Amino acid sequence: MMKLSATFAVLAGFIPYALGQAQEWGQCGGIGWTGATTCVSGTTCVVVNSYYSQCQPGTATSTTSTTTTASTTPSSTAGLNTLAKAAGKLYFGSATDNPELSDSAYVTILSNSKEFGQITPGNSMKWDATEPTRGTFTFTNGDVIANLAKTNGQLLRGHNCVWHNQLPSWVSSGSFTAADLTTVIQNHCGTVVGHYKGQVYSWDVVNEPFNDDGTWRSDVFYNTLNTTYVSIALQAARAADPNAKLYINDYNIENSGAKATAMLNLVKQLIADGVPIDGVGFQCHFIVGSVPTSFQTVLEQFTALGLEVAITELDIRMTLPETDALLAQQAKDYQSVVQACMNVEKCVGITIWDYTDKYSWVPSTFSGQGAACPWDSNLTIKPAYNGIVAALS
Ligand SMILES: *[C@@H]1O[C@H](CO)[C@@H](O)[C@H](O)[C@H]1NC(C)=O
Ligand SMILES: *[C@@H]1O[C@H](CO)[C@@H](O)[C@H](O)[C@H]1NC(C)=O
Repeated sequence: MMKLSATFAVLAGFIPYALGQAQEWGQCGGIGWTGATTCVSGTTCVVVNSYYSQCQPGTATSTTSTTTTASTTPSSTAGLNTLAKAAGKLYFGSATDNPELSDSAYVTILSNSKEFGQITPGNSMKWDATEPTRGTFTFTNGDVIANLAKTNGQLLRGHNCVWHNQLPSWVSSGSFTAADLTTVIQNHCGTVVGHYKGQVYSWDVVNEPFNDDGTWRSDVFYNTLNTTYVSIALQAARAADPNAKLYINDYNIENSGAKATAMLNLVKQLIADGVPIDGVGFQCHFIVGSVPTSFQTVLEQFTALGLEVAITELDIRMTLPETDALLAQQAKDYQSVVQACMNVEKCVGITIWDYTDKYSWVPSTFSGQGAACPWDSNLTIKPAYNGIVAALS
């Protein structure tokens, strides 16, 4: 014990954080960890795995973490995708976007298939990017992402065919007969899905069909075709790439409630009607301290129908500035969300909506909020990363 104490004393002299105490659910040890190794009162440092010890509620005789803390310093953990696959998932992935790909430090981490076994184009396969004028298709930027996935040996999620947002005005402001809009959807989904045939694991064929109260969103598709646009799009996608998994993707369906019920009723009807549908995507754009409590139950309601489910756009934002307490709560929140997917066999994978705060959509969308990703704006892992590791391990 004398030797160990002396080691810690030396470390404490060089590493200021070592003097602090980790918050509840915060990291308190593990290979390579140089932060606090004791926990705040009422919590105990528990070894989750050799890379990660965590302050968990409760007391024990000792609050000092194991000696692995200070001994060795490997360059990285096993990686999120490696852990997810070892746990039986298909992938752990990240969204990305074309402008970020000029940042070589960013691309190096994105392309590390130990961390990410799947990528999703944030924008470049959307309607405004792929068919800006009727019948004229552009795949240049989408192809860059698809080729990156191929080069890296990563799965690709296609995003998306039919969505109310990021539509070119010829669609959103067009005045179509039902027959005309049916042709437009069939041509768009058929051409885009067909272009990437054989390259895409799963497509978000229909994105965000519902309002938060569970009513149908009013847009050109619903207003012209009622609910039939969903099956029109799914059938066109199936014909264009019979092997791609076809998803409907939405947010605020992660907790039980009117919107989750509306989605459940929709997919039940599609299955009853023989319409091709393989999965439901749960976007999971959450807020620190208020992640849904019934998420696992909701996931199980969908898998009970024979569908697969996936977390497709996970991030957990906070009101800035970030604090140690918020980052510790964020770690706990990431852990509980990923754990819900771990607990459901047919939850096939988890995608974060970009891995770094440097390129997160949050600050520009939600004023005063940010720091939503597991890597900070300097591409350094945050406590949230370790929360994910704890759930995947
Ligand atoms: C839309 O379809 C639903 C279900 O088929 C039907 O009950 C409803 O009346 C339709 N709405 C319109 C405006 O036609
Ligand atoms: C990123 O690094 C800079 C320079 O070292 C530092 O000032 C900044 O606080 C860091 N950002 C975060 C989020 O840690």
